[in-house]
Amino acid sequence: MVEPNLLHVPVLEWYDANARDLPWRAAGATPWGVLVSEIMLQQTPVVRVLPVWHEWMERWPTPKALAAEPPGEAVRHWGRLGYPRRALRLHACARAITEEHAGEVPSDHATLLALPGVGEYTAAAVASFAYGGRHAVLDTNVRRVLARAVRAEEYPPQATSAAERRLAEALLPELGAARWGVAVMELGALVCTARSPRCADCPIAHTCAWRLAGKPPHAGPARKGQTYAGTDRQCRGRLLAVLRAAHGPVPKEALDVVWDDAVQRERALDGLVADGLAEHLPDGTFRLPHG
Ligand code: ADE
Repeated sequence: MVEPNLLHVPVLEWYDANARDLPWRAAGATPWGVLVSEIMLQQTPVVRVLPVWHEWMERWPTPKALAAEPPGEAVRHWGRLGYPRRALRLHACARAITEEHAGEVPSDHATLLALPGVGEYTAAAVASFAYGGRHAVLDTNVRRVLARAVRAEEYPPQATSAAERRLAEALLPELGAARWGVAVMELGALVCTARSPRCADCPIAHTCAWRLAGKPPHAGPARKGQTYAGTDRQCRGRLLAVLRAAHGPVPKEALDVVWDDAVQRERALDGLVADGLAEHLPDGTFRLPHG
């Protein structure tokens, strides 16, 4: 394996010169701000997250402030980030942090992992970026950079493997692991991109195993793209938009008009109720969750 120091110095220097100025990385960002950003960024690009993150921080500067609201308010203010179950997860987290941790986001990886909806990635990211802990933070960008730079593979495997985790842990510097983690993530986001990596601008191109091997293309099935139009996900988005715009229960007819295919519409509506994103009241109306 490549000597870790050969990667650390150029990647950290590159990060110092090229990092985006993002508010959740600023010195004044709170652990709560970091947690909110990480959940929002998991499935949504930075530019779409920025305005919603600012709105959340203003409205709910602490977990306690969000915990005091019904879960439907988190869903209402989720904007157009998509995958709105994440709003419910953050709300559940805010309540657990308020009730079980005196309103302070935990700093310890295992305690973070025990919060509702917090998985390995989020626990590592918060412990590392908010508290400076030494953890391998394996998001899709980091995994791609390591796959290329060290394993000579164009893309990482579909699911994070034990081998990837061991590699990422072996590469962690003794000091400054958090900065290293965010620097690799940024390199993956800005230079070592999925479809058209800019190797000419890469600080570790000279040692990159994939580049030195002649950039062999990914073997195996094509990576699946995401289609949206016509999907249940789009239908759910339309239905939820109606509930979010209303400040009270909505009659079924107001939902029926936003999607023509009745079978798909009913399935999507059932899904929203089953996921806790909507409530079906005894009088037949629907609203955002109040619990
Ligand atoms: N900075 C810290 N975490 C990040 C993330 N998940 N995406 C983009 N920038 C980040």
